[in-house]
Order: sequence, then C-alpha cells, then structure tokens
Amino acid sequence: MKKKKAFQSSAILLALTMGLTACSGGENADGDGNSKTEGNKESKSSEVVKIVYARGQDSTKATEKLIEAFEKAHPNIDVELREMPADTGKQHDAYVTMLNAQSSEIDVMDLDVIWPAEFAQAGYTLPLDRFIEKDGIDLSKYNQGALAAGNFNGKQWAMPKFIDTGMLFYRTDLVPEDKVPKTWDELLKTAKELKGQGGTKFGYLMQAKQYEGLVCNAVEFIASYGGQIVDKDGNVVVNSPEAIKGLKKMVEIVQSDVVPSNVTTFMEPESHTAFIEGQAPFIRNWPYQYALANDQEQSKIVGKVSVAPLPAGDKGSAAALGGWMTAINKYSKHPKEAWEFVKFMTGPEGQKISAVYGGLAPTLPELYEDEEVLKANPFFAEKGFVNALNAAVPRPVVPNYPEISEIIQINVSKALAGELTVEQAVANMEKEMKAAMNK
Ligand code: GLC
Repeated sequence: MKKKKAFQSSAILLALTMGLTACSGGENADGDGNSKTEGNKESKSSEVVKIVYARGQDSTKATEKLIEAFEKAHPNIDVELREMPADTGKQHDAYVTMLNAQSSEIDVMDLDVIWPAEFAQAGYTLPLDRFIEKDGIDLSKYNQGALAAGNFNGKQWAMPKFIDTGMLFYRTDLVPEDKVPKTWDELLKTAKELKGQGGTKFGYLMQAKQYEGLVCNAVEFIASYGGQIVDKDGNVVVNSPEAIKGLKKMVEIVQSDVVPSNVTTFMEPESHTAFIEGQAPFIRNWPYQYALANDQEQSKIVGKVSVAPLPAGDKGSAAALGGWMTAINKYSKHPKEAWEFVKFMTGPEGQKISAVYGGLAPTLPELYEDEEVLKANPFFAEKGFVNALNAAVPRPVVPNYPEISEIIQINVSKALAGELTVEQAVANMEKEMKAAMNK
C-alpha cells in the first residue's frame, strides 16, 4: 500500500501540474485537499476521492490486501490507512476525542463490538439503513448476533466485519495430541513441563495488562467456573463463589512462573510476537493468531500450530465474544465513497480476503464453506469452532460499558498484583458497578 501511495502521489502531482498549466485547475481539489482529478480534463468520473480508513494495528496482511482489492475495483476511490492504537480502549478514546470535535479527518472506522451503541447514541456514526436498502444488502445472510451488535434503536449503525472468540493455540511440535490441556489445571501442569523445551522461554502466553483484553481474559476464567459479571437482566452478579473461583485460577496462572514475569504488560501484540518467535508452547488469543503463526515472513513456527478450545474450569470451557464492525463517521465529507468501502469490506469478497490473509472469522456463514477460506483456516471447518463462536460469552451489555470495563480492569489488575484478595476485588467491583449503573 505504501508503495502504491508513493506512486499515486507522484501520479497525482503530475496530474495536478498538468491541470494547472492546461486549465484553470478548478477541479483539482475539493476544498479540503482530499479530492483530485487524474489528468487535467473533464468529467466527474475521473475525479479521485480520498477516504481515510482508521483501524487498529493489523499485524497480518489482510488490511493491505483489502485496500488493494478495493482500489482496483474502484479506481476513483483512494483509501488512506490511519493506524490507531492497538489497545482498543485507547483507540476508543482517540475516536471519541476526534468525533466529539466533529472532525471529518477520518471517513470509515472499525469499531470494537462493544462500542456501536455508545457511538450511535453520541451521534458519531451515520445510520447505514438507506445505503443497505439502496444496494439491496441482504442482512439475513449475516450471523445475526454479530449484526445485532451494530443495531441500536432499530437502526443499523455498523456492519459486522468479523467475529472473535478466545481460543487456545498450541505448538504441534511440542505438545503431543493427548497432552492438549482440557482444564486450567492441566494447562498449568503441561506448560510447566514444556517451558524451556524446543527453545521456549515461557509455558503460556495471555493478555494480562490493565486494558480491555484483560476483561476478555477475566470473563473466560469467570465463565469457565460458572460465574458471570452482569446477568442478562442487567443485575451485577460478580460477587459469587463461581466468579471468585474463576478469578482465583486467573491469579494463580498470572502469578505462576509459566507466564512471562512481565505478563501484566502484555496485550495481543506482545503475546502474539512471543508466540510466533517460538517462545512458548501455548497462547490464549483470537483466531487471527493462526494466520500470523503461518506467515512465512514473520513467524518462526509456520506449520507448527493447532487450535483447541480454551481450558475448562468446573463448568466447562468458555470463550469471550469479541469482534469488529465498520462504520462511517457522521461528519465524513465522502459518505458515498465511505459506504462503498464499508460494503466491500463487510461483503463476501472483503470478508474472504480478511479470512484468507488475516485469519479472521467471517460474519457471513456462507464463507465457512468456501474452499480457500478453509484451506487458510482449517479449524473453521471444525464443529467445535463453530460451536465456540455460537457459545461465546459477551461482555456486560450495558450502556456505559467503558465505565464498567474500567472498574473490572482496575480491580482485576489489583488482584493479579496481589494488592487485593479476589474476595476484596469482587466486592469492590460489585459496589462500584452498582453505583455506576444506578447513576
Ligand atoms: C479483540 C476483540 C475485541 C476486544 C479486544 C480486546 O480485538 O475482537 O472485541 O475488545 O480484542 O483486546
């Protein structure tokens, strides 16, 4: 993409120079300097519109391939990538700052599944219904849970791009099939045994920094012991024996020597980098880990990775539900072009690119039967994976989610650091969450 950008800029420069010398140059820019004509001439159809697409860091090639394919199909739309922070909470705050100021500097943005309702309510995003209707997009073809995450007050504010669910990835050259851990205790034991073997430094990698990913990891421990944070009627139920048991197991693992000693600074990038460098037999991560582990250019463990459900607690295995959607900035100066890009990325062609190059799990069920998608991600064909997607545990569904998330992050972090007992941490969470929700 960068190469293409450099080429495009010189082509544009040339076109601009030609335009300026040949005619008035009135069509050369649209005022914000974003739109240019290719060539000096005539019609609207040769006008190139630049849209800015914001998303978090993509360690795979998927985004580059998506933009390439889109620009090829839409020579009049030039997509510039704006990389946002990898930490989803920081990314959220960066959008909020921008959109509160009614900035039009970005046109399209990816939204974590936990944000669309908040963004819609704040008036940051454009409702997509009229575009969907005009282009006859059949919403019944989408995974309805994923679609619902972008629906608020009867309108569709974001289109689902992919679903995430927590999984256990393991090294097939180090972990014999019969040693793939089924429970957290088995994981601890096997990770201890394997640590140091085959050039590894750690036994297990996870995300334990104080940020949104910590909430996902905590939800998985809590739910695998039968606990919940907020129940489906919106009651705070985190102070339960089940949630306490789950968090105690999390504390035990984080304080053990199977994880890196600085695991409380690990988000996805730190953990996946250690994994693809061959430093651990196990990692908890999202589906993209598989494509990344098989990327010849970056990974030292190509062809040596397989996937299993996360280890179980008393109640069974539980995976957090994640995923990303795509929306249009309400203040975008190019909503039409922005929609074309949203439509492409979330339609069958775009989702296939994301699945093949990024290992992302599609929100269009039809793609789970696509040969190329399955070749790149053989585990998508497994019943266990599809069941895990369907059974994934959502984070609390509450209007002021960022505030609730922060309460969870702070208290879980303190428990992991040994500053609070798990009992104290859940008591604090209960009190603070109840107060925040009754505001
Ligand atoms: C993944 C998930 C997202 C979650 C984030 C936490 O990107 O898709 O839903 O919030 O990880 O780090």
